[in-house]
Amino acid sequence: MLLTKDAFGKDFIWGVSTAAYQIEGAHDLDGKGPSIWDIFVQKRNKIFQNHKGDIACDFYNRYIDDLQLMHSLNIRNYRFSIAWSRILPNGIGEVNQSGIDFYNRLINLSLELGITPWVTLYHWDLPHNLEQKGGWTNRDIKDWFSQYVAICVTNFGDRVNHWMVLNEPTVFSAAGYFFGVHAPGKRGIDYFLAAAHHAALSQAEGARIIKSLRNNSIVGTTFSCSHVEPFTNREKDIIAAKKADVLLNRLFIEPLLGMGYPTDEIKALKRIEKYMKPNDEKELSFNMDFIGIQNYTREIIKHALFVPFLRAKIVTAKQRKVEMTAMNWEVYPASMYHVLKKFAAYPNIPPILVTENGAAFPDKVENGGVEDSRRLQYLQQIIQQVHRAKLEGVDVKGYFIWTFLDNFEWAEGYEPRFGLVHVDFQTQKRIVKSSGKWYADFLK
Ligand code: BGC
Repeated sequence: MLLTKDAFGKDFIWGVSTAAYQIEGAHDLDGKGPSIWDIFVQKRNKIFQNHKGDIACDFYNRYIDDLQLMHSLNIRNYRFSIAWSRILPNGIGEVNQSGIDFYNRLINLSLELGITPWVTLYHWDLPHNLEQKGGWTNRDIKDWFSQYVAICVTNFGDRVNHWMVLNEPTVFSAAGYFFGVHAPGKRGIDYFLAAAHHAALSQAEGARIIKSLRNNSIVGTTFSCSHVEPFTNREKDIIAAKKADVLLNRLFIEPLLGMGYPTDEIKALKRIEKYMKPNDEKELSFNMDFIGIQNYTREIIKHALFVPFLRAKIVTAKQRKVEMTAMNWEVYPASMYHVLKKFAAYPNIPPILVTENGAAFPDKVENGGVEDSRRLQYLQQIIQQVHRAKLEGVDVKGYFIWTFLDNFEWAEGYEPRFGLVHVDFQTQKRIVKSSGKWYADFLK
């Protein structure tokens, strides 16, 4: 039987999530400075068909219509991010009043429409000027980020109550500084470890600053996570899966909870200590009001002798011939249940919100509509899995769908579509998909 939202209780938070660079466009308008993504997309062959986020969904100019559409779909919680280089074009120094004005308009209209803003302070678009000074690999970023956070909280904190410090530090430190497939495109274990440590420090420090300026704020941060299983029951695969679990799930939550970095399983991770100063271990921890978890799939891991540092690799969904999304990720809704249980099992874990989940499928516009039955079914199955975890005692308080509008999907460009609302990137026309209509109905 299909669940109704009543099964979750009336305080359960239902919403949608977006990120600035993926939807706003207006990349150089009204004083905005370049971010690392504005620079990265200009390099050849980094992004699918050399797509760029210059215009994206043109949300910067269309936010009024888009928020009204959101409201008409009964969505009452909206998680979006602030583009750091709209507020501070150079990342530090002079404030760009037009940037502040834009987010004021966005926040005010949300509130007028009865939509609660949930603000992510950093969703991967570091100001380019700061990257030129080393970006996340430079320890000074803790101070740069702190100043930016303070400006946001001072300007918006009278109306914004819900904050998330970082979006998925694992992904931006690994994809951006180890694999080089995301901005800024750096590659190497030392870049990665430095970036990871400074992100972890900034995650706790950012939260402390929000609380010090606005004690009543509700503060969290978000983590990517995937249920991990070994390919076989051979000991080598089990060890490989444990290592992958450290990187995919444990690296940032454990220091935040005061447990230190999980360096036992992976020798190379110990090198992170090179970047640590005497008081850091303590500074890494902070008692958040909630933890945002973001889950899309599970990973099957096997031993791989030739993979440096990890000796582990993913057995892809393609290799396993299982059902996949347009991201080539396995369709596996039970992963949501497992990650919720896993995070809830930490001692002293704050309440959990699912701050992102969704699926990309190849949608088609037909007769003016988009019948995205696979996405709809996936979302229904996920909601069942959230409920299952909740029934077993997991303190999960909300669920946000990734995402409201089809948008710029980082290295995959505009190809994969995750939205509840279809966007024609030539005309900027919006069409609510069947999944969007279903969500509106579910939320009614
Ligand atoms: C990110 C989003 C991204 C989504 C789908 C998450 O890792 O936070 O920005 O679009 O996954 O790939």
